[in-house]
Amino acid sequence: MTHVSTLAAAILAVVLPAAVQAEPIFDKIKIEAGAKLFDAECHRCHSPDADRQSYGPPLENIVGRGAGTYPDYDYSIALEASGIVWTPAALRAWMEDNTGFMPGTKMRHVGIEDRTVQDFILAYLASISDRDPSEISE
Ligand code: HEC
Repeated sequence: MTHVSTLAAAILAVVLPAAVQAEPIFDKIKIEAGAKLFDAECHRCHSPDADRQSYGPPLENIVGRGAGTYPDYDYSIALEASGIVWTPAALRAWMEDNTGFMPGTKMRHVGIEDRTVQDFILAYLASISDRDPSEISE
């Protein structure tokens, strides 16, 4: 028994620090991949900078923001009246099929069904938002 627990402690001592360190690296890679995907799929219509208007509303601080609440942007009635909050789940549904999720939106259809791609874009959007997605209910 002592042997087993000593062995277990030895294994944990080796494995744990690596696991703890790996977490931020994974996050960094997800954010970098998400930034590239954002550039390819969203940037032409959305600025990641709250001070810069584009064809669509800026997406800085979008995680946890009420839909249709960026000041001075001319939203569709559908989006403005939706009353939803941009939780990670709502952002996934939006990326997957925005026009199905919210008929009447003026954002052209995007159909990002791959959950990993959604994850990366979400990680990037969270990195440009003040709120932590884990604190927002799905
Ligand atoms: C062709 C232009 C275009 C592309 C590409 C585009 N969007 Fe949009 N997006 C818009 C427009 C226009 C609106 C406003 C829609 C409305 O008022 O109904 C919008 C609205 C949004 C909103 C709601 C913002 C708010 O303030 O409530 C989110 C979130 C969003 N887009 C995310 C994305 C993401 C993520 C991508 C990339 C995967 C993307 N969009 C790609 C044009 C675009």
